[in-house]
Amino acid sequence: MQALDIQINIAVIGAGAMGAGIAQVAAQAGHRVYLHDQRDAAADSGRDSVAKQLQRRVDKAKMTQQEADDIVGRIRPVSELSEVADAGLVIEAIVEDLSIKRTLLAELERLCGQQTILASNTSSISITALAAELEHPERVVGMHFFNPAPLMALVEVVKGLATSSRVAEIIHATAANWGKTPVFATSTPGFIVNRVARPFYAEALRLLQEKATDAPTLDALLREAGGFRMGPFELTDLIGHDVNYAVTCSVFNSYYQDPRFLPSLIQKELVEAGRLGRKSGQGFYDYSGGVDKPLPRTEPACKSGSTPVIVEGKLGPAEPLLDRIRETDVEIIERDGPGQLRFGEAVLALTDGRMATERAAADGVFNLAVFDLAFDYSKVTRLAIAMADQATDRATSDACALIQRAGIAVSLLEDRPGLVVMRTVAMLANEAADAALQGVATPSDIDLAMKAGLNYPEGPLRWSDRLGAGRVFQVLRNLQDSYGEDRYRPSLLLRKNHFAERKFYS
Ligand code: NAI
Repeated sequence: MQALDIQINIAVIGAGAMGAGIAQVAAQAGHRVYLHDQRDAAADSGRDSVAKQLQRRVDKAKMTQQEADDIVGRIRPVSELSEVADAGLVIEAIVEDLSIKRTLLAELERLCGQQTILASNTSSISITALAAELEHPERVVGMHFFNPAPLMALVEVVKGLATSSRVAEIIHATAANWGKTPVFATSTPGFIVNRVARPFYAEALRLLQEKATDAPTLDALLREAGGFRMGPFELTDLIGHDVNYAVTCSVFNSYYQDPRFLPSLIQKELVEAGRLGRKSGQGFYDYSGGVDKPLPRTEPACKSGSTPVIVEGKLGPAEPLLDRIRETDVEIIERDGPGQLRFGEAVLALTDGRMATERAAADGVFNLAVFDLAFDYSKVTRLAIAMADQATDRATSDACALIQRAGIAVSLLEDRPGLVVMRTVAMLANEAADAALQGVATPSDIDLAMKAGLNYPEGPLRWSDRLGAGRVFQVLRNLQDSYGEDRYRPSLLLRKNHFAERKFYS
């Protein structure tokens, strides 16, 4: 499908944070853009803010003054809505309120030609509901940009029940033409990103609530071991707890209180205290100035004897860890086994979603240390481990010593199921699998959305493929068993992939 020709005029309604950014994106692509806001002078200041943004690029020699002037010159603030009548695409970015948006769309339908596409930048309102009262609901589509629109690559192209495929495809092609990474999604609560990302925050919040460790350590583990750009507490401090908590509540309520999306009391309390994050000077961290960010908990160097490392079977995704251990001068003995390492008194194994204490009792291996998943064991700089309650102090020290020998900092956690990265990734994959199962988007669009929208190091479904559906399925089953909660029920798609030995990507 063809993208909209650049000769076609675009209108953006609502000149706030998102509207101004979207106007900039369209003008940069070469369109003339009408910018309208009901507040006096808001459209002018929207255009001014675009000019300021572009000036910064000129100052850094990333753009010429002429280019910047041309882009700003293509944005035309208009005070009357009727002035956008000849636009071929109108993108509304007004207040997030169904009835106000519906009123605006009805007005636009009256003013604009029948071919005009009406797009909404809503992040939480159903496109189906927005279009329902219009004469031509087939031309209403979601065009969900991320903040800041000029910088964030992702655009979710959201199809409501009545949206025509042609309209969705034109918007997809247009977003791509504007330099964005578009994905298709059906109009379901949270679309792709705001739904699939929930476990990233929820699992860390739960681990914090259960005193597995503290916030700086969880952040450090998800960054250093998980490969995520920011930890969940750093990120929610940046997003604002009011905003992040509201999105969680909205998704939770929209899915009829599915426990998968259960909001956190810890975050609720931060909101109630006005500790909204960076913008209020305090969230999980203190931004009032002069306070150093707390360091993650790291085990001091542990001494170990000169005993060999006994490798019993294959370590699966953690195999590269062995290569790092091999690079040290420790003697290695390999033999068959269930996939674990013995060093001194310690037995180390990758978490399977059970608590170390439970697994130790079940397997009769009492000095058990379970270690966490890493995005890339060949480069990981920090790894979480948890000891079985039955383990001796010597075993704890030996387990830490072995990981440290490989040049990796150790964060010793209280024994909770699935450690940090493994349970987060398993739950992200679970949510992504359910979204795919329900036809919200294709697996590749889901992965693309999580990478382009949130800079995830890998799409959750590709990551699941890499780990093996069986492993992810087992981790979820063990989490579900540990907690006795529906929250961890494995998606039918992961279940099927496990039994069929199939992958999301062939
Ligand atoms: P904002 O509050 O910065 O801007 C909204 C603008 O719309 C205001 O300037 C307001 O005067 C104007 N407005 C309100 N009612 C209007 C009407 N009937 N006609 C014309 N103008 C009207 O809000 P923001 O953050 O730009 O959000 C706008 C939309 O984008 C919302 O639907 C929001 O859910 C969505 N969104 C927001 C993101 C964010 O991070 N802020 C990210 C993605 C989507």
